[in-house]
Amino acid sequence: MKFFIDTADLAQIREAQDMGVLDGVTTNPSLMAKVGISGEAAVLKHYVDICNIVTGDVSAEVISTDFDGIVKEGERLAALHKQIVVKVPMIKDGVKALKYFSSKGIRTNCTLVFSAGQALLAAKAGATYVSPFIGRLDDVSTDGLALIEEIRLIYDNYGFTTQILAASIRHPMHIIDCAKIGADVATCPLSAITALLRHPLTDNGLKQFLEDAKKFQ
Ligand code: E4P
Repeated sequence: MKFFIDTADLAQIREAQDMGVLDGVTTNPSLMAKVGISGEAAVLKHYVDICNIVTGDVSAEVISTDFDGIVKEGERLAALHKQIVVKVPMIKDGVKALKYFSSKGIRTNCTLVFSAGQALLAAKAGATYVSPFIGRLDDVSTDGLALIEEIRLIYDNYGFTTQILAASIRHPMHIIDCAKIGADVATCPLSAITALLRHPLTDNGLKQFLEDAKKFQ
């Protein structure tokens, strides 16, 4: 399973990259606003800065909601850097734009996916990635992981190559459960990735080993 980090924070992206386990980055307008990026030039520069830190795919989201606007914005984003993947919302004009980008060889991430039907449409339109938001489903008492299972089944039934990018991940068990189901990618906050490291038996065992090592040094 690939690990993406879900942030626009350059320090966090560097930290994850330095761990050697990072395969890419996802951003969205809220994450960009959170790090204080504003103005078109600053936004575009920030995407390039992210691409220069990581070696994998970097999702950059369009904010247009009509076909012509999505295409114009997406083409501009894709031209920024070869690692850019154009993130397109799951709306009617978005699906049309996914098909257009697919025909032009521009890679896409279909975002704001909350149902199996939406994921099926994204795959049929040729999306590179589909982003089901599992945490936001859990927030409204709906099983986010069950959606990942449904999409995995549907894509495997028909051999769709769209990669399942589990998004809106909140904690390490989301990552583990997505890995068991067979999601292709999990995009996570840094805290969820580093939480995978922790186990009290590791800490206690290491403490004991280091104490015992003093006896023969
Ligand atoms: C990533 O592509 C999504 O935009 C992100 O995971 C949404 O996460 P949130 O529900 O924590 O905002």
